[in-house]
Amino acid sequence: MVKLINFKWQQLILSLGCLLLIIGCQSLYPTTNPDAKPLKVATDPTFVPFEFQTADGKLEGFDIDLMNALASPAAGLTLSLSKGIAKVAGFAIQFESLPFDGMISTLQAKRIDAAISGITITAERLKTIAFSRPYFKAGLAIAVREDNQNIKGFNSLKGKKIAVQIGSTGADFAKTISNAKISTFNSGPEFFQDLLNGNVDAVISDAFATLYAIKNGKLKGIRVVADLLTQEYYGIAMPKDSPHLDAINKGIATLLSNGTYKQIYQKWFDAEPPQLPDS
Ligand code: ARG
Repeated sequence: MVKLINFKWQQLILSLGCLLLIIGCQSLYPTTNPDAKPLKVATDPTFVPFEFQTADGKLEGFDIDLMNALASPAAGLTLSLSKGIAKVAGFAIQFESLPFDGMISTLQAKRIDAAISGITITAERLKTIAFSRPYFKAGLAIAVREDNQNIKGFNSLKGKKIAVQIGSTGADFAKTISNAKISTFNSGPEFFQDLLNGNVDAVISDAFATLYAIKNGKLKGIRVVADLLTQEYYGIAMPKDSPHLDAINKGIATLLSNGTYKQIYQKWFDAEPPQLPDS
């Protein structure tokens, strides 16, 4: 028995040693060319029409179009992603799918360069990460089953069963409702299914996304209570001391002034974009 345990310890130490050696070698001799590094951008593609995957796995949505427009040479951005080579406008993006709930901690750990995911700029989040200037005017709304006439606004939510997405502003809001029984879900489609099944009375989530899904027949049997609960703005999230923040802000300003933003807004929402604050 003692011998067996000893043997296992030796094996463990040996494998740990090998692992450290491999990690060490990789940082000395990076496998990717540092001159051609793409900007790593995380997104949770379960949020129609901001980010979602088509049947053949393609990423699409308002946020994806906006990010691609920022990266295109037309936006004129040069990011400090490459060393030594002449700076040309435009950059490559590598999108990465991440659960919404993990987005902020992944940014904090700097495992990604940015995240675009309908992320609301909040004072709480600004303590740990940075945000670009606002790029979308949004807000939370209550969604109920079409035949529910009892829930008319914030005051009728007391004591009700409410579904929210983990880590979202909707989840934070739900905590302020007295005696509410809150169920949390990883992604949008799941909590709407729970609402349809009758397991919860209401969903609190981003109004635009819900309204879009209802309008396009992706969400049947659900309606949104007219009054918005909050006014929010989405921003592109970055690590706190990101070297790309200024350039991204300039890029958003360019897209706002040269008509590209309006074009993208109209493509997805078929409406005039509202005025956005600078910061
Ligand atoms: N705007 C909300 C928030 O920041 C929810 C965003 C959800 N986005 C998503 N891709 N699932 O908390």
